[in-house]
Amino acid sequence: AHAGVVVLQVNGQSRRLPQSPGQTLLQALRNDCCLNGPKYGCGLGECGACTVLVDGVAARSCVLPAAAAQGRRITTLEGLGTAQAPGPTQQAFIDCEAAQCGYCLNGMIMTVEALLRRNPDPTEAEIRRELRHNLCRCGTHVEILQAARRAVA
Ligand code: FES
Repeated sequence: AHAGVVVLQVNGQSRRLPQSPGQTLLQALRNDCCLNGPKYGCGLGECGACTVLVDGVAARSCVLPAAAAQGRRITTLEGLGTAQAPGPTQQAFIDCEAAQCGYCLNGMIMTVEALLRRNPDPTEAEIRRELRHNLCRCGTHVEILQAARRAVA
């Protein structure tokens, strides 16, 4: 791509987007692709609300330059399923009513999804280790862990 344009592969589609200097992947996804699954929490890579998959691996899109994501496969929450047909990880979180305010859930779901893609049968300790840097300010961790266990089952 030439200056001013970034081409991203998002949820299986090629997206040609305007690129401003210093633009993050989160800004490109939310503002230019109208994908609101990834959330803006801290903007510092610390809370996990903005998590997406980059080549199947969990990444914090608020600190990843959009230009650095060119040529990689990006999957957002919207790429896992729809409201009518949620993916298995999404369904587990729905079944467990894991949301309180729901702001952190994108990051929780994407992080569990990434874990299950590389390890389909994680232990409790592995689930907890994976989620330890995803913040939930409502304190809904018990339900979130239930949902993660259900996603494994
Ligand atoms: Fe990206 Fe908090 S918004 S880690």
